[in-house]
Amino acid sequence: MRHLLTSMEFTQDELLGLIALGRAMKADPAAYRTSLAGKSVVTLFEKPSLRTRVTFDIGINRLGGHAVYLDQQNGAMGQRESVKDFAGNLSRWCEGIVARVYDHQTLIELREHATVPVVNSLCNLYHPCQALADFMTIAEHYDDLTKVKLAYLGDGNNVTHSLLILGALLGTSVTAVCPKGNGPDVQIFNQALDLAKKSGAHLAVTDQVEDIKGFDVVYTDTWVSMGDNTPLEAVKDKFMPYQINQGLLDNTGIRHVLHCQPAHRELEITSEVMDGPASLILDEAENRMHAQNAILHTLINQGDK
Ligand code: CP
Ligand code: NVA
Repeated sequence: MRHLLTSMEFTQDELLGLIALGRAMKADPAAYRTSLAGKSVVTLFEKPSLRTRVTFDIGINRLGGHAVYLDQQNGAMGQRESVKDFAGNLSRWCEGIVARVYDHQTLIELREHATVPVVNSLCNLYHPCQALADFMTIAEHYDDLTKVKLAYLGDGNNVTHSLLILGALLGTSVTAVCPKGNGPDVQIFNQALDLAKKSGAHLAVTDQVEDIKGFDVVYTDTWVSMGDNTPLEAVKDKFMPYQINQGLLDNTGIRHVLHCQPAHRELEITSEVMDGPASLILDEAENRMHAQNAILHTLINQGDK
């Protein structure tokens, strides 16, 4: 039984296969209309969502399957009943579990007790579905992912970790540019460095924006992630030098911009850039659905081969 918790469950070839499948599904949706026919997927959310909730629901529907949305109104996982019992019960009814949780440990427990594939749709440490959609979006513009240089600007968070890991696996160079004290988790970065030895990807962490001159793609995310109650106002001054704006694009020569959204306009990114010609942000949001459908098709039908 294969799951997707971190992306490290997959090889470079398998990830390239998922990206290719996502692109094929986008190009010819009719060919995949019955991929999940008669199958149900439970999507459960401990945190808010727009893109993830809607893309899984509509995406599963496009594959002929049925999505069941669970929020936490009916009792948080581990509170009304244990994560083990959640996993055991859900596994008797559905063919896959998609979960957005506060703590990565909850996903590990779900995986341990579920008898169906578990997909991480964001936790404190990773956002692998996002990163797959991001690399699919990059692949729509660059034929060879091993030649791409991706810069991440801002807070070193779950999205940063998944970009570093996927970059390491796919052979894409990733540099995280973060203020001192806000870099990615050191253990996860070291793990990514280890993975990069095989692919040859160059990974780096710096606080110097000048280091990304000549890069191809620049990415940013909120400066304060869900679950952290720090007001954005309180970190604004520290992060402002890491804002994506037209000046940054002009100075670095970077041609493409990504943001996982939700975005805070005029904070981590200006409206001028977000709505401008370099922005691939809405393609990226659309690709969440195609990339996730590739994941679900692959994981849920894994026993059918
Ligand atoms: N990018 C992303 O995961 O968006 P949501 O939080 O709206 O799902
Ligand atoms: N880093 C952000 C991503 C939102 C999609 C968060 O965890 O809130």
